[in-house]
Amino acid sequence: METLLEVQEKITPMPRIGDSAPSFQAVTTQGMINFPDDYKGQWVILFSHPADFTPVCTSEFMTFAKLEGKFANANCKLVGLSIDGLYSHIAWLRTIKDKIEFKGMKNMEVKFPLIEDITMEIAKKYGMIQPGESKTQAVRAVFFIDPHGIIRAVIYYPLSLGRNFDEIYRALIAMQTADEFSVATPADWQPGDDVIVPPAGSCGTAKERVESANGEMECTDWFFCTRKLDKKKVLDTVLKN
Ligand code: BEZ
Repeated sequence: METLLEVQEKITPMPRIGDSAPSFQAVTTQGMINFPDDYKGQWVILFSHPADFTPVCTSEFMTFAKLEGKFANANCKLVGLSIDGLYSHIAWLRTIKDKIEFKGMKNMEVKFPLIEDITMEIAKKYGMIQPGESKTQAVRAVFFIDPHGIIRAVIYYPLSLGRNFDEIYRALIAMQTADEFSVATPADWQPGDDVIVPPAGSCGTAKERVESANGEMECTDWFFCTRKLDKKKVLDTVLKN
């Protein structure tokens, strides 16, 4: 006999890259939010964690709190979620601020909203409950949602693995760069590295590219063309200051 959760898992499709972010209203540590409408015009990182008062999650929240300003400077807001209640969230965030030290961080105040989701309604909508990992705790999901409310990237981590915040920030800046400059970004790209010029759409263009690659673009073959993109130009475009 299947459990209700197993049945629901089958009928609730997980949101995918390119989908509109499922909408919801939620109670958070910063008041009610209407998602994603309240965030129109901004990027949002919506992330889940397994539970309050757990060590890996604590280290992640302290790190997000430290980096909140850096994400804000890239026009990106942070919103957290776990299957805990509001008072648990408040007590946990207070304990973090008052007592916890991690990698030189202390007195860390989490100012971004943390959603209460005791019913798991939002977690299920976003495929954050992955029963093979846990039926009662959300996995560590990271949804990157663009200023039009479209899901642009999703990263999932298991319960035991703390996230890599350098990669989360790199992915955000890379997607913003791709949007602003109509390029793609190669493996391990960082601002200042060469970018990929999207593949030619026709045989004629491909041939032309290889034969006449000008100073701007370098083609090692018809499908592999790169160009320089100045770090300052990238950062001046995607960062507020
Ligand atoms: C943690 O955040 O420490 C944690 C949460 C759930 C399972 C394992 C670790």
